[in-house]
Amino acid sequence: EMSDEEREFQDKVDNDIKIEPRDWMPEDYRRTLIRQIGQHAHSEVVGQLPEGNWITRAPTLERKAILLAKVQDEAGHGLYLYSAAETLGVSRDEMIELLHEGKMKYSSIFNYPTLNWADIGAVGWLVDGAAIVNQVALQRTSYGPYARAMVRICKEESFHARQGYDAFMKMAQGSKEQRRMAQDALNRMWFPCLMMFGPSDAESVHGEQSMAWKIKVKSNDELRQQYVDQTIPQIDYLGLDRPDPGIEWNEECEHYDFSMPDWKEFFDVIKGNGPCNRDRMRDRVAAWEDGQWVRDGLLAHARKRAAQKVA
Ligand code: ACO
Repeated sequence: EMSDEEREFQDKVDNDIKIEPRDWMPEDYRRTLIRQIGQHAHSEVVGQLPEGNWITRAPTLERKAILLAKVQDEAGHGLYLYSAAETLGVSRDEMIELLHEGKMKYSSIFNYPTLNWADIGAVGWLVDGAAIVNQVALQRTSYGPYARAMVRICKEESFHARQGYDAFMKMAQGSKEQRRMAQDALNRMWFPCLMMFGPSDAESVHGEQSMAWKIKVKSNDELRQQYVDQTIPQIDYLGLDRPDPGIEWNEECEHYDFSMPDWKEFFDVIKGNGPCNRDRMRDRVAAWEDGQWVRDGLLAHARKRAAQKVA
């Protein structure tokens, strides 16, 4: 039996009226949002690491300037998302502490290494491309602050994907060796990108409830299919080999058939045992500790100002 409050809440959700921070909401709705938005924020911030690694080694000044701008954008996305989560009654410091203690997750994809410049193009094209598919849907999520953050993030993310495809195309159309690197990056990145959408709908723990609350507006499998359908023609356009022999156009359902990633690998990665999990956490914790003096300085300054006002 639903209480009056619950019924009123679900009516709003069903009629696409946004839920705002001061509105009544079920405790589990709040908890689920904090988990998802918090993880999303952490992903943006941790996601800076694999690319930041290449800023000093970008092949031209122009590529360096673009990569620098993109990595800074990701930090901004993290901040909008932490702010959206804070409207639910959790602080950014608390979320960061949970991340550092291994009690909150971030996207599996950032636990894979970026070995060379082709990988950086592939991250922009394939990883940010996957992020957009997911985030375009989330612009219609039921929680107002999250939906609004997504609108701006999607605009910037589109630029990221374009720059990635542009950089990757240069490699794919370059020398024989560059072409080989591009193909290798595509082959390595493909299945980890499919994992970004989460486990199959049958295995998804939160999927059904999150769809009923419209926290998610499309399921993991729907978004994964949409991503595959939009990406295969881009691969073909580059003249590269498709990364999975199972990819085939299916006339009947008008979608591409494709092979699923190795789910055992996925669950290993989200448990902390991917190729770069330990490096990523070590770098984030070190960055947090290195910034302590800035936070201390800001606090000391704020206290001084407050004391001056009283005097
Ligand atoms: N990486 C890490 N963990 C994942 C991933 C992934 N790719 N996919 C699913 N999981 C985790 C879930 O968090 C959940 O674990 P938890 O209960 O400990 O939190 C578990 O696997 C089961 O998955 P679901 O029940 O399907 O989880 P959910 O309903 O949250 O769906 C999804 C997962 C699709 C990732 C959803 O949370 C979402 O849309 N998040 C927002 C998008 C996002 O985080 N993007 C970041 C990557 S892109 C970027 O930022 C550049």
